[in-house]
Amino acid sequence: MRTDIAHTIRLKDYLPPAWLVETVHLDVSLHPSETRVRAKLAFKPNPESASAPLVLDGDGLSLMSLKLDGAPLPAANFVASPNQLTIPQPPNGPFTLEIETLVDPSANTQLSGLYRSSDTYCTQCEAEGFRRITYFPDRPDVMAVYTTRIEADRQEAPVLLANGNLVDSGALDNGRHYAVWHDPHPKPSYLFAMVGGDLACVEDSFRTMSGRDVTLRIYVEHGKQDRCAYAMDSLKRSMRWDEEAFGREYDLDIFMIVAVSDFNMGAMENKGLNVFNDKYVLASAETATDADFAHIEAVIAHEYFHNWTGNRITCRDWFQLCLKEGLTVFRDHEFSSDMRSRPVKRISDVRNLRAAQFIEDSGPLAHPVRPEAYKEINNFYTTTIYEKGAEVVRMVHTLLGPEKFRAGMDLYFQRHDGEAATVEQFIQCFADVTGRDIAQFMLWYSQAGTPRVTVSTHHDAAAGTYALSLKQAVPPTPNQPTKSPMVIPLVTGLIGPDGRDLPLVLADGGVVRRGVLVLHEAEWTFTFTGITERPVLSINRGFSAPIELVTDLSNDDLAFLAAHDSDPFNRWQALQTISMRLLIENVASIRAGKAPRSDDKLMVALAALLENPALEPAFVALALVPPGEGDIAREIGSDIDPDAIFQARTALRREIGTRLGAALSTLYERLTVPGGYTPDATSAGRRALRNVALDLMAAGGDASAITWAARQYDAADNMTDRMAALATLALHGGPEGERALADFYSRFEGDALVIDKWFSLQATIPQADTLDKVRALTKHAAFSFGNPNRVRALIGAFAMSNVTQFNRADGAGYDFLAETLLALDPKNPQVAARMATAFRTWRTLEEGRRGKAEAALKRIKEGGELSRDLADIVERALA
Ligand code: PHE
Ligand code: ZN
Repeated sequence: MRTDIAHTIRLKDYLPPAWLVETVHLDVSLHPSETRVRAKLAFKPNPESASAPLVLDGDGLSLMSLKLDGAPLPAANFVASPNQLTIPQPPNGPFTLEIETLVDPSANTQLSGLYRSSDTYCTQCEAEGFRRITYFPDRPDVMAVYTTRIEADRQEAPVLLANGNLVDSGALDNGRHYAVWHDPHPKPSYLFAMVGGDLACVEDSFRTMSGRDVTLRIYVEHGKQDRCAYAMDSLKRSMRWDEEAFGREYDLDIFMIVAVSDFNMGAMENKGLNVFNDKYVLASAETATDADFAHIEAVIAHEYFHNWTGNRITCRDWFQLCLKEGLTVFRDHEFSSDMRSRPVKRISDVRNLRAAQFIEDSGPLAHPVRPEAYKEINNFYTTTIYEKGAEVVRMVHTLLGPEKFRAGMDLYFQRHDGEAATVEQFIQCFADVTGRDIAQFMLWYSQAGTPRVTVSTHHDAAAGTYALSLKQAVPPTPNQPTKSPMVIPLVTGLIGPDGRDLPLVLADGGVVRRGVLVLHEAEWTFTFTGITERPVLSINRGFSAPIELVTDLSNDDLAFLAAHDSDPFNRWQALQTISMRLLIENVASIRAGKAPRSDDKLMVALAALLENPALEPAFVALALVPPGEGDIAREIGSDIDPDAIFQARTALRREIGTRLGAALSTLYERLTVPGGYTPDATSAGRRALRNVALDLMAAGGDASAITWAARQYDAADNMTDRMAALATLALHGGPEGERALADFYSRFEGDALVIDKWFSLQATIPQADTLDKVRALTKHAAFSFGNPNRVRALIGAFAMSNVTQFNRADGAGYDFLAETLLALDPKNPQVAARMATAFRTWRTLEEGRRGKAEAALKRIKEGGELSRDLADIVERALA
């Protein structure tokens, strides 16, 4: 466990490295507990900085030997500890250092550095894992050319992989063998990777836009080859798309993906050798849901897109993390939109943004898209850096339009290829192609918090004018008590009584391009002319800005938008807003001991959706789902009673199920998907709507829904339908639910990724006995605290997705999480810290729960020697 005292690292203290590394020659002899690493590093002084001692990072290393320019370095000339190697007086010019370290991959439970997953040796170096392999200036602005020689027992590890191209391989004595890989592209140490193991491989190829053939390989455990087809197909589509959408071609002769079962995150973009959590590679109709297929497509694309946004152009320092992550998420969102339905993708992305990022941004863990300080960088792989980071890039796209955006991206690739860049340099490219000033836009990177925009409107029929008044306010966040007004692009339409968009003509002669109104001031009024009849306002179309919007639209106006808006996002949003108003009112009623009311107009609007054949089924499926418990809580803001929220939401679902029961059952019977299973978006949409219909019928108390769900469960030829039926049965089916859960386990026993679904489903049942079941499941043979996917599936699902049971009034949910985190932290601090963010909303709870959550957090804080990761989250949560 780490015992060093965490100090704060600040953006303003950035200094260029004193020493650069030109080449790295690694020679790694793999062994389960004593892997020998010889690193030969060619250093040269950085011409841009003053001379300084050589200080190399380490983390838990044992130094075996050290040579400088070929000669052993006398002990008096260096200082080595597990966490640092210093040469106080290095030569004045270039020199080489040969460092020999010994590492124990089998003992590495943190899954950072060199570790073993099942029996495979693999590495994870982002952000600071390379220093767990050898001493190195482990920072992204030190870019070097790597040659990696790996040696291993041929039986144990017949496959030996590293970045770049294979340049040599052969047999050695004693049953050992070796392979040498060379990566010609200079890269930071966090992109280094190496794999050794007994793996199966699926191979394909891709011809690039300039006609080069690239070998594509996916390595998996033996026997899993038949689950790689969708990942391979997604990879080829990603490669083509990046050529077409951004003109970016792949730059090595081979691209490899290795799927491992123990992985802290989703996947990693190591140059030419992506390492994936196997959950984002393996899929078959029987084992993966439509959502799993969509995630695989998105993650494969994301990691592949990093080859240009992240690898060719990397980050100067970790404060610039959003430079690669926000931009790459934007790119993968665009890719999925092009592969699937753009409106449906946008609605799901916004739903996720609100459910995760808006919550983060409104609590104690809020931080800017580009943070200014951190104690543990691993804790900044957040939804703010990734998803809000992507929204910021999307706003650039919205403000500039597609052509100028592409021109700015082209300039960025041209100007910064091969460099470690900053956010300013990225945004400057867009300034340079448009001649615009970027100073105010940069606030999106430096100010945390979700801006709240309040809208009021006034129509003057006699004058034919329509005034749209906007006010913005950005709430205070940790260390940022006051804020300045931001640049907010609001795609807007005024819809006439016939349902058509009116031309937008500003009274002051200003032009509105592509419907984008740009708010720069704290308050501003846009006045439109030629508006004789009262229009209905549709604003923030497509969620053009990541803001909270407060409008004076009536429910009738919203129902009109739901039926007529040309923007599908706002049609969906209008229904969500009507539902949200009802839910908030009902939460208050329930807390006052009164019955929740129902809303006829909402039911009429929802019924209209079901009867509209022009709408995509996937869209209708999304529109039928009321705002989530987390969204409702965020909207209420303080004094949260999760049980009242749950009851209000349950009442609404029940009402939808009963009032629309006939239409839902017709849909259910009509929407069967003919033919065998295919994961395409159209058939996935039909399945989604059919399964939402089933669940709402069950929520409405329709007994035949349980019969249908049981039949669907037994007859399903794919995991989407089986899992949906299982969830409905587990929630509403009583003994039928128990039977199906047992059946599911015995059907899929041994298939860890599928059993994760079984863990998650049980952990998210909103019932009083769930906590006991979760505790019992931690002892289940299929569960392990050593595997992050298992921990997230059971503990993560309980703490993050089971709002009522995690927030039990007696505090037992908090106590359970506290105990679990204290036990997990010594093994895997990154995962423990991630789970601890479940406490991020504790201050908004009603008094009783608030006190219990605070006590649990304090118990963690005082629970012993915490990792820097967990200590950082707990301290910020309590601050
Ligand atoms: N950089 C990875 C991505 O593509 C995420 C990651 C971060 C993976 C740190 C492992 C460790 O988003
Ligand atoms: Zn990424």
